[in-house]
Amino acid sequence: MVEEDIKFIETQHIDLTDVEFKGRVLDIGGGGEGIIGQLKGERVVASKRRESELIEAAPGDYLKIVMDAKELKFLDESFETATAFFTLMYAPLLDHKKIFQEIYRVLKNGGEFVMWDLTMPKRDIRSKNYYGVNLEVTIGEKKNSTGYAVPWKKEQNLKYYSNLGKTIGFKILEQDEINEAFYIRFQKNR
Ligand SMILES: C[S@@+](CC[C@H](N)C(=O)[O-])C[C@H]1O[C@@H](n2cnc3c(N)ncnc32)[C@H](O)[C@@H]1O
Repeated sequence: MVEEDIKFIETQHIDLTDVEFKGRVLDIGGGGEGIIGQLKGERVVASKRRESELIEAAPGDYLKIVMDAKELKFLDESFETATAFFTLMYAPLLDHKKIFQEIYRVLKNGGEFVMWDLTMPKRDIRSKNYYGVNLEVTIGEKKNSTGYAVPWKKEQNLKYYSNLGKTIGFKILEQDEINEAFYIRFQKNR
């Protein structure tokens, strides 16, 4: 990936200082900056597909585990909370439904799935091959600056994910657009 081939949008600012989660947290695609691990420490299990990415992940009190979100190894109803912080932009569209179904399965009844991601428009023939964002994430006094970029192969936005969640059976408790990023809090409520 060369810098000139990435369509970088302006820096997005996300403040997680007052974000609350219930109980134990499964962070899908955690590691990297380990933002959710930094936020909630030992309550977090961070899962990623590749071991190398977890080894390189920011250190912290959270537990790191190699696991594909399409096939979570946890029993049904194991977690009060699941999170995906700028993870689903990295997964192919074809995998999203299975990932949502697996998250729904491992959540307890009343449990919540909280996601943040990037609004990505449709690519046209003249567009660059990658789409990326620089993020400034605030957790209390601490500011993390990081960047995420992926092959520009899909279009995604808040509506796409909220509809997907609803088709799986989630209720939407909260949703918000933060410039070109968005946040959705789903609940499993049978
Ligand atoms: C770059 S991280 C996102 C930022 C990260 N949450 C943080 O706090 O810094 C997203 C990761 O999700 C991982 N991922 C994508 N699809 C996945 C899947 N099906 N199962 C597990 N991890 C996945 C990718 O390997 C990618 O490295």
